Parts: sequence; structure tokens; C-alpha cells
Amino acid sequence: MCGIIGYIGKEPAVPILIEGLKKLEYRGYDSSGIALIQGDGLEIRRAVGKLQNLEAILARETLTGVVGVGHVRWATHGRPSEENAHPHRAGTVVVVHNGIIENFMSLKKELMAQGRTFTSETDTEVIAHLIDSIAQQGMPLEQAVREAAGRLKGAYAIAVIDSRSPDVIVGARKGSPLVIGLGRGEYYFASDIPAILHRTRDVLFLNDDEMAVLSRDGVRITDLSGNDISRDITKVMWNPVMAEKGGYRHFMLKEIHEQPRAIMDTIRGRISQETGTVHLEEIGITQEQFQAMKKIFIVACGTSWHAGLAGKYMIEELAGIPVEVDIASEFRYRGPLIGKDDLFIAMTQSGETADTLAAMREAKKRGATVIAICNVVGSTVSREADGVIYTHAGPEIGVASTKVFTAQLTALYIFALHYAILRERMGAAEVRKMLADLVHIPVLVERCLEDNDAVEQVAKNFFRATDFLYLGRGPNYPIALEGALKLKEISYIHAEGYPAGEMKHGPIALIDENMPVVVLAGKNGVYEKILSNVEEVKARGGIVIAVATEGDEEIGKSATHVLMTPATNHLLMPLLMTVPLQLLAYHIAVLRGADVDQPRNLAKSVTVE
Ligand code: AGP
Repeated sequence: MCGIIGYIGKEPAVPILIEGLKKLEYRGYDSSGIALIQGDGLEIRRAVGKLQNLEAILARETLTGVVGVGHVRWATHGRPSEENAHPHRAGTVVVVHNGIIENFMSLKKELMAQGRTFTSETDTEVIAHLIDSIAQQGMPLEQAVREAAGRLKGAYAIAVIDSRSPDVIVGARKGSPLVIGLGRGEYYFASDIPAILHRTRDVLFLNDDEMAVLSRDGVRITDLSGNDISRDITKVMWNPVMAEKGGYRHFMLKEIHEQPRAIMDTIRGRISQETGTVHLEEIGITQEQFQAMKKIFIVACGTSWHAGLAGKYMIEELAGIPVEVDIASEFRYRGPLIGKDDLFIAMTQSGETADTLAAMREAKKRGATVIAICNVVGSTVSREADGVIYTHAGPEIGVASTKVFTAQLTALYIFALHYAILRERMGAAEVRKMLADLVHIPVLVERCLEDNDAVEQVAKNFFRATDFLYLGRGPNYPIALEGALKLKEISYIHAEGYPAGEMKHGPIALIDENMPVVVLAGKNGVYEKILSNVEEVKARGGIVIAVATEGDEEIGKSATHVLMTPATNHLLMPLLMTVPLQLLAYHIAVLRGADVDQPRNLAKSVTVE
């Protein structure tokens, strides 16, 4: 996820662009840059790392241009570097972009065949060359952007300037947000409202497959065929603090709601439903290497370890290879029995967790092939691994991991399918069915999010509890662990996740009317067993909060409270069951007045042992 901004007006653009980028820096901080129309040319300044590095460059000069664009980057294609930093230029055209272009390689080959040369690894530079190559035919910038947008597959929100058209900025969007700010004789593009709230509260929202032309005379919105579209002005009433969180009270809640987008962006470009295929060439491991593997180790900490546990069910069932899931701080000191015939997967949001990094180095030393499933391009783990599958969840600011967790599960599911195909265990028809279930998940997560009020109601009943027990079976067992971790780390209530079948071996002694028991009772192969566990709790006067599958009329006879989730296959059910547990933890923590985004004693990335 990146942040883009554009300005056209009467004042020098640099201070306005920088002020806006400061509000967008939470969207990405790998690099930043600005571009201006200056006289009859262009001025571009870019810097790796935090925005302050760009500010230091700009402080050394006075740029007076009054039309410009800016960008803060969260790397998805190409490591964080000045060459890969936006804005990207081709001839007289400059582009800033938020999104992922799936067909950028085929477009790049086509443009290179025309003799064009590229200086970056990014998909965005391809957009700049595509627009420039079309504009060279003499059409206005608006038309060139329109034609180029029609050739892009994937997600984009772009703002484009051209020194040959100094009096306009053209923007377009598909799958990534883009808002327009309305001033007096000055107009703005931005990825979201915080970037322009210091300048105007009057905004227009662009929808997918729409574009806009900003000039000092005003704004024109059209569809991709050039038909004018009228759009009502929205008056934004947020205060600046709320705006940083996109109107949500906490980053954690915002990120819980970003999960459909995070899952979509993690899927994007990696599957084809038409052909029933999965594309993970990015890992850089050949089919022969995969077929020679004897065992997979998934090693991680905290929430990432829970994702690994769910991944075990997916990979063993679909790919038929043994998977061992380990806590990194245990793996690294155990003298692990891992070697050249094994695959080690480091599962990590930050890519900087010391225990996970050390475990990966230990595995590498013992000859294993090591890959990472990671959310941060250019992080230490991702740089040292032999291959990486990135979760495209964007920056996760809340200490409690939410959107990255479901993005990790998404990546593991795609990996399991990829491996199953390479080991010739699944035909195209079966793969198509599994992919159809996957692409439906973002919509189903949206439906889970719509039940927020029901979850908040449950939270109001139990936020004073001192202990919780979370139970699950099969692929939902790791979700019981994750639900318990979410609750304990932000509300400070003691909570334990347990395999439901283990309750009779001890935890059942804890059951009484004071300890809520959350049971993941999705309709899967062990549903009847879970139902009997619910009865066991009820029989001892316990309180059951069940997370069940829509249409289940049985569970309500035993559970005190029921939260419903849509139906899906049993391997994807964890992605849906997680959402009500995230919301339950969030609402309980808020009701207890806890610091949701920065809980006591915790850090977002534990870079020490
Ligand atoms: C998750 O909510 C916690 N913040 C924590 O357990 C986290 O998952 C763990 O520290 C691992 O971090 P990583 O994914 O960045 O390696």
C-alpha cells in the first residue's frame, strides 16, 4: 500500500505535497518523492527511507512549481531504493501509483521492443512509459491516460503530470482509493482524506474505472470511455487525529476492516481461475526442487506461528508432504533435524523478528532451502531468504496483528495449491474449485465485518471477565490460539486457546459460570465433535460463545451466544472465523479502556531475543 498526492493551484506545490505526504506516511515509508512542473520542464526529487530524508534534500533548494505530485512507497515490486522510488518518469510524463499491476511484465516487454529502456524494477515505471508512448501520438494527456488505463490489469490509483500539458493533473483508479480535494482555484488528488484535510474539507470520491482531470478551472470526472460523470461533493467532518486512521477510532480497527483488500492484494497476480493454475514463480524454487523435498518446517513467533499451524493443515492435506510447525525460539536451540532435503518457511510480518531470523539462519546453516512469507519488502528475513512470498497487506500499524494474519493464511493456501499442482496431486478442475472458494473470501470477510454490532453486544456481556477459554478443532484450532492471543495482548484478560478435544484432559476443571468459553463451531468434518464439547461445557454450567456457520440451527440450542460466519471450505474457514474473534478482542479492550494500538509491554516487531 502506498500513498499518492497531487496539487494544482497558485501556491508553490512542495510544502503542500510534503504536508500531505506526512499524513500518508503510515501507508508506506520505504521511500518517497515528488515531481513538479517547473518552467517548461520537470523537477523530480526522490529519497530512500523516511520522508524526512526527502525533506532534507528539498531544504537545500527552492522549487517554485505550482503543479506537482508526491508519493510515499510501501514496496511491492522491487526493493526499497532510489531507482525504485516514485515518481517514475518516461519522457515528459511522470506517474505516482498505488496498487499492483498484474500484467506489467508483458507490457514492459512490449515497450522494450519499441526501444524503451527502464531504470527500475517497478510496475509503475511501465505505466509511465505506456502513457508516454501513447501521448507521443499527439493526443491530449487525458486521452493518453485513458487509453493506458484500459490496458492495465490489476489495481491502480495514479496521478499523472506531463510538462507538455502544464495546466492539468490527470488521475485514474481501479481497485485502489483516490479522492479529489476541492479548493478555490486549487485542486488535489490523494490516496485518502488525511493528506488534504489541512487544505480542504470538500472532497469528491472517484469510483473504480473512473478518471479525473484537475485544472485551475475545476474538476472533470469521466468514465474510461470519456463520458462525463457528475458527483456530489462530500463535506468531511473528521478531526485530524481521526483522519490519520481513515475515520476509524484505532489503527487496529482500521486494519481489521482492511482485510478484504489485504486478501485481494495477496491473491492478485498469483492465480488464474480460467486455467486452474497458480503462479508462485517469485519463490524461485523449481518443480524438481519442490518434488525432491521430504519435509517442510514452518517456523515463526506469535500470530505468525498461529498462521503456520493453520498452514500445516492446508499443505499436508493438499500437497501430501509432512509439515512441522515450530516456535522460532525453540527451533533455534533444539539442534533441529533439518537438512538439504527440507524446506524451511520463515513466517513473519515484520521480517525482523530476532528469533525467527536466527532460526532461519540455523536452518540455512544445516543445508535447508529457506523461503519467507513476509509483509515487508527489503526486510532482513526477506533479503536473506532464498525466496519470498510477500503478503501485500500494506503497513500494519496496530501492534496486534490482524490483516497480515489473514493475508498469511491466504499466502499459505496459495502455496499449498501451488505445491499440490507441482506434486501432481490435484487436477485443474479441483484446483479451479479451490480457487473459486478463495476468490470469494474477501466478500465473505466483508460479511463478517458487517456483524460488528453483534460482536460488540457480546463484548458488553463479558468485558469484565478475568479468564477466557478458546476451543477449536482441526484448522480452527490455531484460530482458537489466535483469538486468545488477540484478547490477552490488547485487553490484558488471561485467555487460553486449546484443542477442543483436549478439554476433558484438564481445562474442563476450569469451567464455571464466570469463564466465557469461545468455541469455533464451523460446519466442517469435526462439527459433531465440537457440538459435544459445547454440551460438556454447558453441562458444567459454563457459558459458550459459539462462532458458527450461517444456517446452523443446532448450535443455538446449546450455546449462550452465537456469532455466525458464512460457509466456505474447511481449509479457508479459519480466515472467516478469525474476524469475529478480532472484533471481540477489540471491543472488549475498548470497553476496558485499554490502549488498543500500543498495548503495554509489547512492540510491533521484537528484534531482540
Ligand atoms: C501478534 O498480534 C503479536 N503482535 C506478535 O505475536 C507477533 O505476531 C510476533 O511478534 C511475530 O511478529 P512477526 O510476524 O513480525 O515476526
